Amino acid sequence: MTKYLIHGGKPLHGTIEISGAKNAAVAIIPAALLVDGKCRIENVPQISDVTLILQILQDLGADVRAVNRTTVEIDCSHIRNKPVPYELARKIRASYYLVGALLGRFGRAQVPPPGGCNLGGRPIDQHIKGFIAMGAEVEVHSGLIDARMPGGRLSGGQVYLDMVSVGATMNIMLAAALADGLTIIENAAKEPHIVDLANFLNSMGANIMGAGTDVIKVRGVKSLRGGSYSIIPDQIEAGTYMAAVAAAGGEVLIQNVIPKHLDSITAKLLEMGVDVEELDDAVLVRRTGPISRANVKTMPYPGFPTDMQPQIAACLCLARGTSVLTEGVWESRYRYVDEFRRMGAKIQVDGKVAVIEGVEQLTGAPVHACDLRAGAAMIVAGLAARGDTEIGGIYHIERGYENIVEKLSSVGADIQILYQPDDETQSQAG
Ligand code: UD1
Repeated sequence: MTKYLIHGGKPLHGTIEISGAKNAAVAIIPAALLVDGKCRIENVPQISDVTLILQILQDLGADVRAVNRTTVEIDCSHIRNKPVPYELARKIRASYYLVGALLGRFGRAQVPPPGGCNLGGRPIDQHIKGFIAMGAEVEVHSGLIDARMPGGRLSGGQVYLDMVSVGATMNIMLAAALADGLTIIENAAKEPHIVDLANFLNSMGANIMGAGTDVIKVRGVKSLRGGSYSIIPDQIEAGTYMAAVAAAGGEVLIQNVIPKHLDSITAKLLEMGVDVEELDDAVLVRRTGPISRANVKTMPYPGFPTDMQPQIAACLCLARGTSVLTEGVWESRYRYVDEFRRMGAKIQVDGKVAVIEGVEQLTGAPVHACDLRAGAAMIVAGLAARGDTEIGGIYHIERGYENIVEKLSSVGADIQILYQPDDETQSQAG
C-alpha cells in the first residue's frame, strides 16, 4: 500500500502554483458530450478523477487527445449512447453528470448510481426532480439510473431546488442546454465552478443567464459548436495550501488563483491571526505568531466551503483556545476525527458540531485518509506535527490534488511517497 511519509515541524517557504479546479473539470468534461465538434479544454488538473471521467467518455466513443500536460481535446461527434460501465461510474461521484449530458444529447441516459466520498447520505433526488420537470421519465432498475425523454428532446421546465445543491444545479444546466425552450433553476448553487460550467457552455453557443446567482435561466439552443476553454483555478486546492501554511508556519505565495473565490477562507485565516495578502492572481500567506481560536460554519458559496472543513480543523487543533466547528452541508463529515486524536488533537463531536480544544503541539502518527479532503487535512496536520506521520489511503488524495508531494516539497516540506508492493488502487470515492 503506497503511503505518504511526512517529517513535520518545518515551516514552508516559496511559491506554489495552483492547478485547474477538480469540481469544474469533472462537469465540463462531460459537457463536451453536448458539443458538435472538437472542444479544446485547457488548465485540466492531472488527477485520477479526471482520468476516470475521460475514460468514461472514451468508452462511449469520444475521441480524447492529450495536447500537453494540462490540455485535452475531446471530440464527441461519433459517440454511441450505451450504458455507462459500472466499474468506472462507481469510482467517481461526478459520474452523475453523465445523466444530464446524455439525456440532453440523446434523450436517454443509463448511468449506474455514483460512488462518492463517504460523507453520509448523498441523494440525487434534486437532480431527478429537475429532469422530470423537463419531461423526462426516470427509473432506477438493474443497478442503473435510467432516464428517458419520450420523443428525444427535453422541454424547458421550472425547478425550485429544495436545498442548494451544486451537483443538481450543474446537472440540470447540462440537460437544459439543448432542451426545447426555457429552463429556470431557482435556489441554485452559486459556486465558482457553476459559473465556469455556464461560461464553458456559453462559449460553445449555449444561452445560460444568471449563473453565480440563485436563479439560473437556460434557454435551450439547437446545437453547440466546438471551441476552446480554460478551466478556473481550484479554490479548494488553494485553500488547502493556505491551511498548510497556517498550520506549519512560514510564508508562501500561492499563484494562479482567483482571490475572490478564496474570500471566505482568507477572512477566517485573518481572524485566526494568519496574514493573507491578496494580489491580482495570487495570495501571499504568512504565519509567524500563534493561531487564534475561531468558530467556523460551512455553508454553500459564498460561505465557508465544506470541502475546507477538515483542513481548517487541522489548523484549529493548534489554536490558542477552544473553537466550534459546525458542518452545514453534509450529515457526516467528521470521520477523520479519530485519526486526528491519534496525533494528539482534542476534539469532541456531537452531530454536526465539533468542539476543538487547541493543543500546543500535534505529534506524528500512522493515520488513514478516509476521504479526499480528510486526507488533505492529515497532510496539513502532519506538516505541523512533531515527528513522523504516515498517511495511508492516499488514492483518495490523488483523486483531487495534482502533484501534491512535489508542490509541498518545493516549499520545503519533508514529504515523500513510500511505495509498497501491495498497492491499493480500489477507490470507491468520487
Ligand atoms: C459537490 C462537490 C463536493 C462538495 C459539495 C458541496 C463535486 C464533484 N463535488 O458535491 O466536493 O462537498 O458539492 O459543496 O463537485 N442533496 C440532496 N439531494 C440532492 C442533491 C444534494 O439532498 O439531489 C444534499 C446533499 O446530501 C448535501 C447537500 O444537498 O447535504 C449538498 O450536496 P451537493 O451540493 O449536491 O453536493 P455534490 O454536488 O454531490
